[in-house]
Amino acid sequence: MKNSSFPLEGLGEEALFEEMLAAKSDDVDWRAGKLPGFYVHFANDAVKDVGMWALREFHASNALGPGAFPSIRKFETDLVQWALELFNADVGCGSVTSGGTESIFLAAKTAREWAKENRPEVERPKMVLSHSAHPAFNKAAKYLEFDVIRVEPRSDFKTDIEALTAELDSDTVLMAGSAPQFTYGVFDQIKELAGIAEERDIWFHTDACVGGFFSPFAEQLGHDIPPWDFRVPGVRSISADLHKYGFSPKGASVVAFSDPAYHRYQVFDFNDWSRGRYVTSTFAGTRPGANIAAAWAVMRYLGNEGYLEIAARIWELREKLIDGIRSIDGVELCGEPELTLMSYRSDSLDIYQIAAGLSSRGWYTVAPSPNPPAINLGILSLAFGEVMDAYLQDLREVVKQIQQGDHVFEATDLGSYGAA
Ligand SMILES: Cc1ncc(COP(=O)(O)O)c(C=O)c1O
Repeated sequence: MKNSSFPLEGLGEEALFEEMLAAKSDDVDWRAGKLPGFYVHFANDAVKDVGMWALREFHASNALGPGAFPSIRKFETDLVQWALELFNADVGCGSVTSGGTESIFLAAKTAREWAKENRPEVERPKMVLSHSAHPAFNKAAKYLEFDVIRVEPRSDFKTDIEALTAELDSDTVLMAGSAPQFTYGVFDQIKELAGIAEERDIWFHTDACVGGFFSPFAEQLGHDIPPWDFRVPGVRSISADLHKYGFSPKGASVVAFSDPAYHRYQVFDFNDWSRGRYVTSTFAGTRPGANIAAAWAVMRYLGNEGYLEIAARIWELREKLIDGIRSIDGVELCGEPELTLMSYRSDSLDIYQIAAGLSSRGWYTVAPSPNPPAINLGILSLAFGEVMDAYLQDLREVVKQIQQGDHVFEATDLGSYGAA
């Protein structure tokens, strides 16, 4: 299949930008809030502008060369230190990575290397998770040759601890829990799970990719957040995405470890090629310093005070969204969402029809999750917050149309979560 040829001549800026903006015209209008709960975290234009300034200013910086770019070294060190402080670690170590998937990959890699030294009885490493854990764990397992067991969750979508414990054996190197889960927005029982892991000398990872830079501020605001961070004994690593509730431009996450000694299991250290010793802490070789600089810029710009303000607004919207969904006859929330993400289902109606109805009204709607069939959404972006009333009104009307049987929606153009 060929639908584009390498251009023989260059294109002037004006025509170039025009062509690119034309291509963009089919993209989802997230700025108008039409993307309720996927792909884009957005606080406000001032935050975006600070990140964009840093991306431009540091566009050439390469985090592969911290000696040449000490600014990037400082920014990364600060970001890891700030994350450790927010996650209540006295000491620790970590890195800024390209995103949640890489942070989880590095935690799994570190756990595997740690086990090689400390759990020599392990024949083939295994990770044991609840079914709701993000696919990034299986991706890491595929690259790192772990076996993976996922256990069915309880009816409230939390981990079935008994079922999970039954799967632990002498090859189990890694256990993990989500804080919160992407699909239902509930927290796994990190305290109990990490306790079991600690007793058996199993590495425990908290996946706080979504919640890591929101929960600390929600807690400061006085909300009841289940335990998830380094205060919990047994938690050895945490993934937390700067490009989610850190509100930095995409391509930034933190993987944090409870003990500086774990760093040596994280790094790749190689000395058998023509150029001499080559050491990296993360998956990439050349690594955009711009993303690190932009994440630092946004954090320094907002500070604790700024994040608190945003968190307060998001919490207000979350309450309104939960109340709004609960007030619509015909749909029900799945479990008790504990942060900003949630899912709703229907016992009486076809949820695919509801998704298609919302899609026909301009809301980019990703195909429902399968079991139970449910629509996932959340307050990722304050742009969605601005139009949430309209979303709830459309949901109410679509549900009514389907209940009255006067409308059949075609569930053909729903989005997917990831694609080849
Ligand atoms: C709980 C959780 N873990 C991991 C990830 C993966 O993050 P990323 O898409 O940045 O790789 C996500 C993404 O939404 C997530 O929600």
